Amino acid sequence: MANTNLANAKTAKNDEFYTQYPDIQKEINAYLDYDPNVFRGKTVLLPCDDPEWSNFTKFFAGHFELLGLKKLISTSYAPESKKYKMPYQPTLFETQQPYFDNDKSKTHGKIFVLTEDVSGDGRINIEDLQWQYLEGDGDFRSKEIRKLRDEADIIVTNPPFSLFREFVMWLMEVGKQFIIIGNMNAVTYKEIFPLIKDNKMWLGNGFQKGNAYFRVEAPRESYADGVFDESTNLVKFRNCCWFTNIDHGRRHQPLKLMTMAENFKHSKHKEIRGRKDYIHYENYDAIEVPFTDAIPDDYKGAMGLPKSFLDKYCPEQFEIIGIAEGDTGKELGLKPFPPELKMMNPSLRQGQLYYMEDGYPVKPYARILIRKKQSL
Ligand SMILES: C[S@@+](CC[C@H](N)C(=O)[O-])C[C@H]1O[C@@H](n2cnc3c(N)ncnc32)[C@H](O)[C@@H]1O
Repeated sequence: MANTNLANAKTAKNDEFYTQYPDIQKEINAYLDYDPNVFRGKTVLLPCDDPEWSNFTKFFAGHFELLGLKKLISTSYAPESKKYKMPYQPTLFETQQPYFDNDKSKTHGKIFVLTEDVSGDGRINIEDLQWQYLEGDGDFRSKEIRKLRDEADIIVTNPPFSLFREFVMWLMEVGKQFIIIGNMNAVTYKEIFPLIKDNKMWLGNGFQKGNAYFRVEAPRESYADGVFDESTNLVKFRNCCWFTNIDHGRRHQPLKLMTMAENFKHSKHKEIRGRKDYIHYENYDAIEVPFTDAIPDDYKGAMGLPKSFLDKYCPEQFEIIGIAEGDTGKELGLKPFPPELKMMNPSLRQGQLYYMEDGYPVKPYARILIRKKQSL
């Protein structure tokens, strides 16, 4: 985990991470399994992409007919506007076009559109993509790309990590369907958490074994040991996930859980097994549940869970009460802790949960407060 965090910090300014084809395929298949017509007759926009390289463009153009798409639009961001400067070389594909423009190639974004069979081979696929330079640099916040957003039904991309909040707000302005990649830590942001709580956004199906590998162009020394694989040019993030507002099957699979008594007897976690009770927070009426599989099935009250719970969250089984973090925590009515406890544990912050262990105040990391659906 330390490696991952270090890598995140070191590469914070680098937004150039390219998504792999099998990851896109696995994720999109989950929505199709749930509703085979989810993309039928729809216009899909892939912003913040590099259509000449992108696996998003390759996947959606390649499956245009199978998905029943009406229109595919993919846009790129101008090389000179990118924060992370890399030597730029236009592709042969671009330079061979009669309208190739050496200056625009650096300063303008590009738009690729697919609607019909242009090549005349009787199929609509990647060969039929038509492209041109955008008027601007392809910034998703520009008027030009907003217009494309408004035209689209579904927006799919891996947006720049550094502008994730802004990107989600940009999506929410118009209430479109979306499938995007982001950092799991984003769930604690004050702009993002309310969307999760109100079931306006949830976690997607997910990466293979929770590990996301992205192709990078950045120099090797930007990464901590074990994060970057030189032989594949892939960088590994353990805390990346898909966010969406489109339904998939995993979201509706309730967790199979043990009762509280069964947990005390059989839990695989030494923190739970052999106990007589779950730890109760001092400043909020809820129990501390440090592992999702240790949720007691027969407990009706509030429970504090790590944010990884969201990957298993089934809205028919649980409701989300809030997050014990910052202002959101204060709004939950967490009781202030006595000042003398701060002397014992300086990391205590108002708006966060704490419990006492052997006379010492302990603060668990950003807990999400949940409770079983009262109807169950
Ligand atoms: C994480 S990468 C993902 C690229 C591609 N979508 C993929 O997954 O393979 C995000 C891309 O967004 C671009 N980008 C950064 N800021 C942007 C902005 N304001 N508007 C549009 N694109 C931006 C970056 O240059 C980068 O290429």
